[in-house]
Amino acid sequence: MASKQVPKQVEQAPPGLRHIAVVMDGNGRWAQRRLLPRTAGHKYGVDALKSVVRGCIAQGVPFLTVFAFSSENWNRPADEVSALMDLFVQALRRETRELAAQGVRLRFVGERSAFDTPMRELMQQAEDLSAANTRLVLNVAINYGGRWDLVQAMQALQASGEPISEESLAQHLCLADVPAPDLLIRTGGERRISNFLLWQIAYTEFYFTDILWPDFDEKSLALAMADYAQRERRFGTVHPQAPGLRVA
Ligand code: FPP
Repeated sequence: MASKQVPKQVEQAPPGLRHIAVVMDGNGRWAQRRLLPRTAGHKYGVDALKSVVRGCIAQGVPFLTVFAFSSENWNRPADEVSALMDLFVQALRRETRELAAQGVRLRFVGERSAFDTPMRELMQQAEDLSAANTRLVLNVAINYGGRWDLVQAMQALQASGEPISEESLAQHLCLADVPAPDLLIRTGGERRISNFLLWQIAYTEFYFTDILWPDFDEKSLALAMADYAQRERRFGTVHPQAPGLRVA
C-alpha cells in the first residue's frame, strides 16, 4: 500500500473521485494457493468485480474501468486463454441483465476483431441493453493495450487530417468521452502498469495492494478510497502554501 498509516474506511467517495481504474491481478495465485486450477481464480474474480461495482454505486463513483484481458494475454497457455474466453461469454450471459438493472452502462474498449462472433455479439448486446444507464459507466478493457490505443488514435488522427495536438489525439483514444482516472488500483502485489491506460494516467494516483483480486471487495475499495482522500493532487503545480508563493 502506498500510505504508511492505515486509513479509515470512507462511507462516500472523496470529493473529486470520479473515475477508478483497476488492474485485477492475482487470480492465478489465489487459485494455486487453494490447489485449484488457475481458471478458478478468474471465476471468483468475476464475483470480486461485482462487489467493486456495488461499492462504486454505493459510494457514488460514476466511472469504473477494469483491465479484463490485455493485448499480451493471448500469449498465455492456450487452455487458459480458451477458459478466459468461455468465462467472458458466461459472465456476459449471466450478469448483463442484472448489471443493467442496477443502472450500470457497460462498454468494452479494445480490439474486438480478435474475438469470435458470439463474443462480439454479446458485447454489442450488453452495450445496447445498457446504453441509457447513467449510474455507473463500467468500461471493460478487453484485448486492450495502452500502446494499441495510442497507435489506433494516431492512425485515426492521421486519416482525419486534423493537426496533431494533445487535445486532438485525446479525442481519438478509446475513453475520449470519460474523465481521466483519478485513482488506479492494482491488486496482487505487483507495482507496474502493464500497458494499461498509458496516456490517461498522466496524473492518476496509484494504489497498490497485496490483496489478490478474488479477495478484493467493497471494503477493500473503501480503504483504497480513504487512502486516495489523503493524497494531495497538484497536477504539476506547487502546494498552495509552498514557501515563496505567499503574497502577503
Ligand atoms: C490477472 O490475474 C487477471 C486476468 C488476466 C483476468 C481478469 C478477468 C476477470 C477478473 C474476469 C472479469 C470478467 C468480465 C466479464 C469482465 P493473473 O492470472 O495474472 O494472476 P496471477 O498474477 O496470480 O497469475
